[in-house]
Amino acid sequence: MYARSREDALSAAAQMDSGQTEKTSASGVFVCRLQAAYFRNYPFLRLDLPADCPQIVLTGKNGVGKTNLLEAISFLVPGKGLRQAKFSDILPKENERASAWGVTAVLHRGNEEIEVGTDYEKIDGKNSERRRVRINGASGLAQTELGRICSAVWLTPAMDRLFSGEPSGRRRFLDRLAQAFFENHASACAAYSQALKQWGALIRDGEKDERWLSALETTLGKYGAKVAAERRETVAILQAALEQADDNGAFPRPVLALRGGWEEELISVAEAEAAAFIRKRFTAARETYAQTGSAGGIHTVDLDALHREKNMPAAACSTGEQKALLISILLAHVRAQAAAKGVFPLVLFDEAAAHLDFARREALMNGISALKTQVWLTGTDSRPFEGLKETAHFIAVDDLLRNAPDWAAAS
Ligand SMILES: Nc1ncnc2c1ncn2[C@@H]1O[C@H](COP(=O)(O)OP(=O)(O)OP(=O)(O)O)[C@@H](O)[C@H]1O
Ligand SMILES: [Mg+2]
Repeated sequence: MYARSREDALSAAAQMDSGQTEKTSASGVFVCRLQAAYFRNYPFLRLDLPADCPQIVLTGKNGVGKTNLLEAISFLVPGKGLRQAKFSDILPKENERASAWGVTAVLHRGNEEIEVGTDYEKIDGKNSERRRVRINGASGLAQTELGRICSAVWLTPAMDRLFSGEPSGRRRFLDRLAQAFFENHASACAAYSQALKQWGALIRDGEKDERWLSALETTLGKYGAKVAAERRETVAILQAALEQADDNGAFPRPVLALRGGWEEELISVAEAEAAAFIRKRFTAARETYAQTGSAGGIHTVDLDALHREKNMPAAACSTGEQKALLISILLAHVRAQAAAKGVFPLVLFDEAAAHLDFARREALMNGISALKTQVWLTGTDSRPFEGLKETAHFIAVDDLLRNAPDWAAAS
């Protein structure tokens, strides 16, 4: 499911550059059945969907449970879901029976039918939780196994401020996109952050243990070089996919670039050299860090997006323009994953049509129709999705809740 190597991911990008995307015959992923228990405002939920349905549109008034349903689906892939919530916060409030939530689904991918399930457990003695994964009846699997079956791309209203918000939000966004191509990206990010935390603490404590400090600097170099390279390659892959957009210019095609975070020095060197560079920079920064509490590093990099047609940084674009830029990047990410891995991700677009003018809404619906995978959409009413009425399955979320079995009575 992941690109086997960076070379594979980059060659997919090169393939897109040379206009060969159409030749890829990637399979889509389709949810045919979804069940959730004790998931936010759903004590119990069961959805049986038409076979290989390309679009599911969830409609209903504010607070009915549209985003919650998308969040449940986002747990069919590794990670903390589209809200990045603490797992215990997902349990229905004021429901004494609820002790753990769970989500199961039957997925169609190519000719395969795959049953996946997930819940979580508390880690003994720690105030943290770990997801548990079941695939086709085999339990106790690692989350990465889910990533081999399917991935997901999502857009949420919280991302409307991606370009005008803090750089940390853009780094998290980029790292999530990179994870789709590089299976160990998230663990490399975690290893770098952990080493950075320990290194900072040692210096703040005035600890002069040379071996310990230099071991941490070696770790920072090793994982820092990997993370920086994978981010850079992800940007290259996305840019190549953006150039291939087939929307007659309805959506802007941003020019993406990485800025800061020693990127200028690292951009043209091989990974081993980059690792040595990062190690040495941290060693040289010990004194500065002790005095100022900052040393720089690859964790300070930022993702720049330029609205090419207007020659305007994304942060200075209008709300609707920023949304259109973001949608362009996400649709490019979907196409790039299909080219690199031979499998499309699931697409979860929460309130995607909000802020878009009529022409852009139409372009969005056309773009969605062209995807050969399942796309989930939400809106307070069905009007923006008129263009999908021949192919989409519409669900009024109110009805779903009204017709849900009485879980309390059943248990
Ligand atoms: N842990 C929880 N237990 C019970 N209810 C919850 C929990 N978390 C959130 N909710 C409630 O679930 C309801 C539905 O939330 P959701 O965000 O899915 O609404 P929505 O349909 O997407 O609304 P909007 O159109 O405003 O985006 C809200 O009223 C929210 O307060
Ligand atoms: Mg919502």
